[in-house]
Amino acid sequence: MNVTVRGRTEHFRTVAFDATKNSVLLIEQRLLPHEFKIVATKNFRETATAITDMIVRGAGAIGATAAYGLAQGALAFRGCDLKKFSTQVENVYQVLKSARPTAVDPVNAMNDVRREITRGETVAEQQALALAAAEQFANDDARHCAELGQHGAKLIRSGMKILTHCNAGWLAFVDTGTATAPMYAAQAQGKKFHVFCDETRPRSQGATLTAWELAQQKISHQIIADNAAGHLMQRGEIDLVIVGSDRTLGKTGEVANKIGTYTKAVLAARHKIPFYVAIPLSTIDWNLKSGFEIPIEERGESEVLGTWGINSRGQREYVRVANPASGARNPGFDVTPAELIAGIITPAGIFKPKELWKQRRKLGFAG
Ligand code: MRU
Repeated sequence: MNVTVRGRTEHFRTVAFDATKNSVLLIEQRLLPHEFKIVATKNFRETATAITDMIVRGAGAIGATAAYGLAQGALAFRGCDLKKFSTQVENVYQVLKSARPTAVDPVNAMNDVRREITRGETVAEQQALALAAAEQFANDDARHCAELGQHGAKLIRSGMKILTHCNAGWLAFVDTGTATAPMYAAQAQGKKFHVFCDETRPRSQGATLTAWELAQQKISHQIIADNAAGHLMQRGEIDLVIVGSDRTLGKTGEVANKIGTYTKAVLAARHKIPFYVAIPLSTIDWNLKSGFEIPIEERGESEVLGTWGINSRGQREYVRVANPASGARNPGFDVTPAELIAGIITPAGIFKPKELWKQRRKLGFAG
């Protein structure tokens, strides 16, 4: 998407690759909205750390980062022994896979890269195929988001008030985003609407990232405290909810997304407000049979006990908010059952969550 910094507008992808330096280029998302900066990782370990430390975050963005990281690790191999090369690729795969557990996109992305690699007969061929497959994943991610945006835009009418949770915008993908894609497409069609961004504690991706994106895109919006949505729904001030997902189960239609999503889905059902989930194909997990099998990331307690912000000197600073003697529990994601979801917006159309399995061929299931 376009970013305007100090009066200059430029198009950026959230994740890119510099082949001359064998570096993954990432927008440093922890600094947003206060500073826009691109960082370059020097090797696959730095790339994995960038995922763990959330320099880059969001399902599709970490998928593309993992794919490029795998190519980066493969390209760093010196020599022509295919067996040693495969061992190196497997090692890189495992390091990147363990960087964050809940989103399935990194695993799907790296499986694509691993599968492509095997078509090469030499190390050099396999290295070139690894990078080409990572580029392909990134391009597909951007295309899927644009396509699902066209389907999702049909749900948006002028005058609507839309709630979204966390950041499933272009910063969470390679470009365009998922929950925001229908909004951007509707805006391009001339529709006028208003978006409420859940603040999304503890890391506040709604208040920092989604709000920044929507402001950049000149879409009318306001940030609300996470606890405010029920009140607004009760007063008829929310017409539609669109969120993203980090893992959607193809067999059951259950949706893992940022902590607090399930609460919003329950509230939306209570108030008969349609609740939609927007995903690219890489977010579908065709294997798991129950949402309880989804690994839910538990993050450090400091995220709940305090918060990061910018001080009066313009420096990033952590402040402790909570009672000094108290600890915290910090599950990063929750799972919303299929019956609370009106539809899953995909690049191939909008489906009921329980129809995903029936539609699996259209949705990229290769098994
Ligand atoms: O912890 P994050 O910021 O990587 O969480 C991912 C998310 O931003 C959300 O869960 C989002 O709604 C879906 S990812 C596109």
